[in-house]
Amino acid sequence: MGPLLVFAALIAAALLLVYRLLRTSHGKTLHAPKSPAVTGAEKDPYNDIRSLPADFDWAATPPLKVWPFKPKYHLSMALENIDVSSFIEIDNTYRDRMRIRRSVMDEHRQATLQCNSVAGPAVLEFYDWMLSTYLPRRFPSIYKPVVTPSGPHLHNTVSGTDLPVRSTSPMAALETLGEHVDTDFLFLLPSSTAPDGSPIYHLQAFVTCFPAGFSTREKCGKPLATIHAPVPGYVAKLEKSMDRFFARIEIGKMVRRSNWSISTNDRLFSDGGNHMYADTEQGKPIETNNKTLDVGQPDLDRKIEEQKRDVVVEDCRLRCERQTLHRLPKTKALVFAFKTYLYRLDEVKEEGLGPVLAEAIEGLGKGSVPDMAFYKRGVVWGEKVGTYLKS
Ligand code: HEM
Repeated sequence: MGPLLVFAALIAAALLLVYRLLRTSHGKTLHAPKSPAVTGAEKDPYNDIRSLPADFDWAATPPLKVWPFKPKYHLSMALENIDVSSFIEIDNTYRDRMRIRRSVMDEHRQATLQCNSVAGPAVLEFYDWMLSTYLPRRFPSIYKPVVTPSGPHLHNTVSGTDLPVRSTSPMAALETLGEHVDTDFLFLLPSSTAPDGSPIYHLQAFVTCFPAGFSTREKCGKPLATIHAPVPGYVAKLEKSMDRFFARIEIGKMVRRSNWSISTNDRLFSDGGNHMYADTEQGKPIETNNKTLDVGQPDLDRKIEEQKRDVVVEDCRLRCERQTLHRLPKTKALVFAFKTYLYRLDEVKEEGLGPVLAEAIEGLGKGSVPDMAFYKRGVVWGEKVGTYLKS
C-alpha cells in the first residue's frame, strides 16, 4: 500500500468516525428530523379522521354500554381526552332514532332548535366539517359523497336521502344534523367576561332532540353557571374549574365524559320531570318548568309519596349520555355534543351489574354532594329500582 493510499484510508476512517459521532449522542441514536407531514404538531386532527371499515354494518353494531356509575357520587368534571375520530357513535338504533328525531323536531320545533345570530358562522363551520370531512371519512358505508344537479351532496344510505354539503342557513344546517346524526349539539361562545377578564361561555345555538328533563330554549343565551344553576354543588365544586377549562381548551383537543340517571319512562325527549330542584347554594331562585316537582311546595312529602307509588319498575330506564367537547378551528366556538343511551333495567341485570347499579343509587346521597339523590329524583324511584336490581 503506497503512502497516498494509506493517507486516503486514514481520511476515510476519520470521516466515518465523525459521522458516527454525529449520529450518536450519549449512546442514543439521533433520529433524522421527522417530515412535517408526520409530526404531531403539523397534523390537523380535524382532517386526520380514521375510517371505520368500508363494510361497517351499523345494523349489527350494538349500542355502547356507557355505564359510568360509581359506588359513591362525587361531583367532578371527570373528563378524558379522546381521538377526534371517535367523536360520533352509530349503532343498531340509528334508523329508529332518525325517525324519532324527525318527529320530535316536528312536534317541538321551538324546544329542539335555535340559533342566535351570533352563532350562525359557528354552526355553518361545524356543518361544513361534518358533511364534507367527518361523516364521509368516518362512516364511508353510511355517508357517501355524490354530485347531484344541485351540487355536492352526502348520500345517507340508511335513510336514502341526499344532504347538501354546503348550507347557507344555520337553522337548516342544525335541522339536517338533528335528523341524520343521532347526537345533540350545543354551541357556546365567549359572550361575557369574568371580573378577571377571562371569557365566560354562553349557549348560543342548539339542536337537542333528547334533553334529559330540562328546557334547552330557556338555557339559550345563558352562561354555563346559569345553565347549571339547578345542579347541586356546581358553584362550589365545578364552576371555577369549568370556566377555566372552557376558556383554555385547545383546537384539536376533544374530551369526553358520561353521566347516568334513572328515568321513570322511556321517553327520549323530556323537557321536564326528570329532576327535582332545590334552592341554589346562593339562594337564588331557579327556573323550573311546570312538569318539575317544586321542592318549595307545602305538600312536598305527600307529592313524593304519590310519585313513588306511580313508579313502575318495568317502565324505568337507565339513562346515560356520552358527552364530548371541542373547539372549532375558525370561529373558535365550543361544541358540546351528547348521545343519549337508554337501557332496560333487566339488561343491566343480565350483565351481572344489578347490585353495582343498586349500590351507585344508594351512593348518590353518600358522595361529595348528597343532594344529588334529590336532584336526580332518586327519592322517588330509588327504593323500587334498587329492590328490583338486587332481586
Ligand atoms: C364538559 C363539561 C361539563 C361538565 C363537567 C358538566 C357537568 C354537569 C353535571 C355534573 C350535571 C348534573 C347531571 C349530571 O350528572 O350530568 C350537569 C347537568 C347539566 N348540564 Fe352540564 N356539564 C358540562 C358541560 C355542559 C354544557 C356545555 C352544557 C350546555 C351548554 C351543559 C348543560 C347541562 C344541562 C342543561 C344540565 C341539566 C341541568 C338541569 O337540570 O336543568 N353542560 N352538567
